[in-house]
Amino acid sequence: MKEKIAVYPGSFDPITNGHLDIIQRGLTLFDKVIVTVAVNPSKNALFTIEERLEMIRESVKGISNIEIDTFEGLLIDYAAKRKACAILRGLRAMSDFEFEFQMAMMNRRLSRDIQTVFLMTGFRWFFISSSAIKEVAHFGGKIEGMVPEIVCEKLKEKFKSIKPAKCRP
Ligand code: COA
Repeated sequence: MKEKIAVYPGSFDPITNGHLDIIQRGLTLFDKVIVTVAVNPSKNALFTIEERLEMIRESVKGISNIEIDTFEGLLIDYAAKRKACAILRGLRAMSDFEFEFQMAMMNRRLSRDIQTVFLMTGFRWFFISSSAIKEVAHFGGKIEGMVPEIVCEKLKEKFKSIKPAKCRP
């Protein structure tokens, strides 16, 4: 039978436990999940693409059937190139819906062969976003338990010169 592949795209600047939750639950539906970092120079990212990939790689260590990649250009073209049958996205709150709906409809207009599949983000991660994590870390707040350990460390390094984020040693 044909392998069922989903691509899970995003900025992942940085990856959070909310993203990990979607990846792990996505793997219960698909044979393989390709986590792919969007190269978008117009978004003012804190971490470079390489740094983001490294944090993702470290965070998913030990989980099988995952591939880490990057893409540039149209997501739907990338998904087709990777022979994916679905685009995986997480929904946190109603506020995500409008943007996600528009994106899913546009992708459907571009190709009817690839479905967008939404999973509800686990309720423990509903309030998390990469920006909120960065802001808390920037001001030295506790981000432990909301992001993988490696992300905690990397944020601590990034903001060291300003004020250290309180992470587990
Ligand atoms: N848990 C926690 N946070 C989550 C989350 C989850 N499950 N799912 C999303 N988020 C957060 C992210 O942390 C991010 O937070 P931030 O805005 O504070 O950084 C925010 O939600 C946006 O998420 P993300 O999934 O990274 O979306 P994005 O808007 O950065 O990227 C792409 C969306 C890359 C998929 C989209 O822009 C794209 O497809 N681009 C390619 C061009 C294209 O094909 N365009 C046509 C389609 S319209």
